[in-house]
Amino acid sequence: MKMKLLTALLAIFTLVIISLQSCTKQSAASESNSVGGSEIGENESGGGSSGNGISHNMGLNCMNCHYSGGPGEGVFTVAGTVYDTSKAVTFPGATINLYTGPGGTGTLKYTLKADGSGNFHTTQSIDFTTALYPAVQGKTSTHYMSTSISMGQCNGCHGITTNRIFTQ
Ligand code: HEC
Ligand code: HEC
Repeated sequence: MKMKLLTALLAIFTLVIISLQSCTKQSAASESNSVGGSEIGENESGGGSSGNGISHNMGLNCMNCHYSGGPGEGVFTVAGTVYDTSKAVTFPGATINLYTGPGGTGTLKYTLKADGSGNFHTTQSIDFTTALYPAVQGKTSTHYMSTSISMGQCNGCHGITTNRIFTQ
């Protein structure tokens, strides 16, 4: 069954290559590479969410799974979910900045971008020995956490012991 499908696909690609005389073999090959790629985010090579793409488990503590030896792919150092002011609907594309001082003061140490699901995450190493104050920037406003964090499990508190992270 799988072989038949492959053969059919090959036949179709061959036809496409033949009918599109202007197309080089190379570009046809690179097109076929992108077929069927349904990634839910990008976490390869120590990266993080980048504003595009979608991910999963919005609102849950990502590090329940994305820890060293855990079932989730990638060991996340900072991760969470941003909602709109209703705190029920996710807010895509927010920017999460971590400053050394409250209210956007001090030095901007790290920046993360939430993806299309409102989720943000990174696997980069984060220095929690100095105080880090989160600031979440939406389209029209920035919300500041007034106290500093010593861990990156944002959804370990937000949505459990305090409000969900929100912006607008
Ligand atoms: C219940 C366990 C669990 C929780 C909670 C969880 N994840 Fe995952 N995650 C997984 C597993 C398992 C995979 C790998 C399989 C897959 O892609 O579904 C994964 C994969 C991913 C990937 C894709 C990694 C890659 O390199 O393609 C991203 C991005 C991701 N999770 C983000 C998050 C974010 C952000 C959160 C928190 C809002 C979260 N996950 C919460 C289990 C979890
Ligand atoms: C240990 C629990 C805890 C963790 C972890 C945590 N927060 Fe908070 N956060 C709070 C509490 C409690 C408040 C309300 C008091 C304050 O502002 O300090 C808050 C407030 C905020 C606010 C301001 C909310 C408002 O009303 O405008 C933002 C934004 C925020 N946090 C973002 C984050 C982000 C982003 C992370 C992860 C990098 C994070 N928080 C991690 C507990 C936590």
